[in-house]
Amino acid sequence: MNTKRLTEKNMDEAAAILRDGGLVGIPTETVYGLGANGLNEEAVAHIFEAKGRPPDNPLILHIPDASWLERYCKDIPLTAYKLADAYWPGPMTMILRRKDIVPDAVTAGLDTVGMRCPAHPLCRAIIDAAGVPVAAPSGNTSGRPSPTTAQHMLEDMDGKIDAIVDGGPCSVGVESTIIDLTDTPARLLRPGGITLEQLEAVLGEVAVDPAVTRLMGAGEQPKAPGMKYRHYAPKAPVTVVTGDPQKSAEYIASHAAPEDGIICFDEFLPLFTRRSETRPVMDLGPAGDKEEQARHIFDALRSFDHTSVPAIWAQCPDATGIGLAIANRLNKAAGFHIIRV
Ligand code: TXA
Ligand code: MG
Repeated sequence: MNTKRLTEKNMDEAAAILRDGGLVGIPTETVYGLGANGLNEEAVAHIFEAKGRPPDNPLILHIPDASWLERYCKDIPLTAYKLADAYWPGPMTMILRRKDIVPDAVTAGLDTVGMRCPAHPLCRAIIDAAGVPVAAPSGNTSGRPSPTTAQHMLEDMDGKIDAIVDGGPCSVGVESTIIDLTDTPARLLRPGGITLEQLEAVLGEVAVDPAVTRLMGAGEQPKAPGMKYRHYAPKAPVTVVTGDPQKSAEYIASHAAPEDGIICFDEFLPLFTRRSETRPVMDLGPAGDKEEQARHIFDALRSFDHTSVPAIWAQCPDATGIGLAIANRLNKAAGFHIIRV
């Protein structure tokens, strides 16, 4: 299959491909998504094929606004509309009870469905023009880091999808926050672009699913099926070092082998790139700017797959604000191999 490169001039073509059952790479503010008509079982099945995605891992439906919730969900609590008012369009997915109209292929047979109203203008234009809910997981091959540029998505999907719309680099850089509103209290299943603190401001108490902060034991089931897979993982093993930035940088400098890859805050680049060292070093962004770090995290993890580093060491921000999402992605990439200094 020849994957067409589309731009903002071809929104109608992207929408027509979706309506006709094709697969389109779509930019969102979080990461690039692999979109299909969410009401078309066959098209949705093709998403799983293109990604090599396990069939028990459900997809999110992308909609133009909260008024579409009633089409696909039932028993919608008032809190869903409060959250939508506060954070939609934006990087937040709500888990709600689903209506029968939602294909089993989307929900992997669950009686709930993930709903998200994205903010990226091109993504919104495509959904509007298509006039259907767009089912879209992140546009990576299953198990690889999520793509935050069209180029990254093409590395995984060129030849496997009908088209991709290039909307530039993603402004958030980590996936949407997933909040399960079918549980009391509401439960954070995946930290993302909307912070836990922002959710608490609207909901009051929020439970945090254990899969967010630790490795699930054998027999334990995270509530978001996707959280159980070794995810975001570069080929080389990753060690996360967390704590005071100066101390974590010094720890890595004294423990990493000369050929190991490094992910560090900007301030500490000189520590790892001095002398004749030729190892790959990826900067996350300034230690004090977590928004910038979120934009770089997947790019950094992905970049090491083009190298032959035997191991990767990563500095990690504290878990407040969007730091919780960054730490979660790094810790998952490391199989929760974390050193606290
Ligand atoms: O930012 C995002 O959410 C991106 C962009 C493209 O919108 N999408 C994305 O989709 O990250 P995906 O499929 O890569 O991750 C969705 C996660 C998976 O872990 C999946 O198991 C979980 O959401 N999920 C989907 N439906 C669910 C449901 N009904 N109950 C619990 N978890 C669900
Ligand atoms: Mg994904």
